[in-house]
Formats: sequence, structure tokens, C-alpha cells
Amino acid sequence: MASPSKLFLSLFLLFLFNPANAQGLKVGFYEKTCPSVELIVKKVVDDTMSKAPSLAGPLLRMFFHDCFVRGCDGSVLLNSPTNQSEKNAFPNLSLRGFQIIDRVKSALEKACPGVVSCADIVALVARDVVVLRKGPSWEVETGRRDGRISNLTDALLNLPAPTSNISQLITSFQQKGLSVKDLVVLSGGHTIGTSHCTSFSNRLYNFTGKGINNDSDPTLDPNYIVRLKAKCKPTDQTTLVEMDPGSFLTFDNDYYTLVSKRRGLFQSDAALLNNGETKAYVRLHATSQGGSFFQDFGVSMVNMGRIGVLTGAQGEIRKVCSKVN
Ligand code: HEM
Repeated sequence: MASPSKLFLSLFLLFLFNPANAQGLKVGFYEKTCPSVELIVKKVVDDTMSKAPSLAGPLLRMFFHDCFVRGCDGSVLLNSPTNQSEKNAFPNLSLRGFQIIDRVKSALEKACPGVVSCADIVALVARDVVVLRKGPSWEVETGRRDGRISNLTDALLNLPAPTSNISQLITSFQQKGLSVKDLVVLSGGHTIGTSHCTSFSNRLYNFTGKGINNDSDPTLDPNYIVRLKAKCKPTDQTTLVEMDPGSFLTFDNDYYTLVSKRRGLFQSDAALLNNGETKAYVRLHATSQGGSFFQDFGVSMVNMGRIGVLTGAQGEIRKVCSKVN
């Protein structure tokens, strides 16, 4: 029989090296090693966001794009000398706010050098920007470690396209261990932020590709099409459109109201009306402010934050978020 100390050692090693170890995450992971981590993150986010509130959207989206590609390991932050990292993939070209992550990292390296991972910074910043935009708060689990690999193709293969239909979306989320409910709840993140015309102009012009007149997406409200066409000419690459017009800086339930009125901007938003469970959720939250959406959002963000994390002795704690040590 193994001695108690050998048994303890093997259990400890199993815990450390278990590749699917999301148990390594916990609320307050840095309690002893960097007790003011959350205050430091919040202060930098407050300071910079008061000058540039529109960075809230991109910073929330950054967490999604980090977690869906190689797990929440900060791989979205890495630069590549040959432009082959996740950052260089088309869906990530519209990400912004990397300088805020860098500022947080510098502040944390001063207070507790080599302790807090860039992956955890992305998770904490995502929560803090939602709170600043009047959305819900939740307890962020920490203890993620940073990955050393970032690959353009991984991003293309793992980030769902705005043209996705409901079964593609469900599959994409299920592949990450997320439920249909997580899908409809997290899509509510589109209550803040903006989109380039290019992300939805296929719905306005030449939707079927058959070159017929007024060829737009029949699932999009015709009055809304008129408004969107006025903003986005067919070849417009630069204009930004508010995803929740009038309150794109406020985290609220409006997203569901828009989707239920067939005014969701992307096909992936409209697709939420094509499944019984997602449709019921949209309908319910289209009419009630706050309510369970706020609570649900926190729960689903925690779920997303567990995707493919590196913990224990895996990965590293980067010194600079844009490069491996
Ligand atoms: C369900 C699948 C999803 C698809 C297909 C999708 C797609 C997109 C696209 C195409 C944009 C516009 C990018 C641009 O043109 O600038 C966008 C913006 C955004 N997405 Fe998503 N998204 C999805 C899920 C999520 C999730 C889960 C979150 C976070 C919880 C999120 C948060 C955001 C935010 C905040 C913006 C605004 C970014 C800004 O202001 O620059 N999205 N999304």
C-alpha cells in the first residue's frame, strides 16, 4: 500500500497537471499573493474609461474572443512578428483596448511582480467595464495562467461568424462546454458597443447573391433596413453603427427588445428567434428590465471564463501581455 505521503504527493501532482483542471480557478485566488489586485484593476479601468467610455464594448468582446480560442489564456493579446497571431485574424482586427490591458498589467507588475496573469486581467476588466456601463456585477474566478501559443487560424476556426445560423451557434457554444442558455444570455453582450457596417451589410445589399432589386434579408425589419442603409453604403468599410441605438453605452435588456422586433444587427442575433429555448428567453427579457438577465449574465460570464483554462503549473505568468516570457 502507498504511504500517506506518497499518496498525498500523487494526488497533489494529479491536481497540478490535470489538463482539464478548471478547479484551479477560484474567487480570491490572489488573496495572499496580490490582495489589492481587484482594486488596482478597477482603478485603471475607471481612469481610462472615463476618458474613452466606448472602449467598454471592445473590452467585453475581448474576453469572449480570448476564451473561444485556445481557452481563456490571454492568447488574444500576443503579438507576432509575422502577423500570424490571433490578433491578426479578421474578426479580431476590430478589437480595441489592448493598451488598457497593458496599463493594468504595468500597475500590477509594480504592486505584485510576476503574480497576476494576463488572462485573469482580461476576465476582471470585462466584469469592470460591464459594471461601469450600469450592468450587473459578479465574482470573477481567478487563477488562470497565460498560454504561449497564439495562432491566426485558430481564431478563424473558433470564433462564430455573424452570419451563423442557430444550429451553428449552438454547436459552437457546445464545443466550448456552454449551453443554449449561455448562448442567448451572452449574446445580450450586444447591448453595448458598435459594429462596422461590413459585419452586417450582406443583410442590406445582395443578400441572396442573385443580383435582384431590394435584395435584403427578409428577417430584418424593413424600416430598420432603411435606417441602416442610410448609414452604411454598400462598400463602407469604416462607419461604426451602434448595436443598441440610443443606449449603446448602457448595459440593459434592450438587446432582447431589438431582437424580438427583428432589429438584431447580425444574422446570429436574428437566429435566436429560430430555436424554442432561445426565442422564449428573448421574448421574456424583451419586456422586463433588469430581472434575471443581469443575474444570468454573471453566471454565463463565469461559465465562459472556465473554458480551456490553464492552471497550476501549466503555461506561465507573462511579464508583458503582448509577448511570451
Ligand atoms: C454568439 C456569437 C457572436 C457573434 C457571431 C458575434 C459577432 C460580433 C460582431 C460581428 C461584432 C461587430 C464587430 C465589428 O464589426 O466591429 C460584435 C461586436 C460585439 N460583440 Fe459579439 N458576437 C457574438 C457573441 C458575443 C459575446 C458572447 C459577447 C460577450 C459576452 C459579445 C460582445 C460583443 C461586444 C461588446 C461587441 C461590440 C464591440 C465594440 O464596441 O467594438 N459578442 N460581435
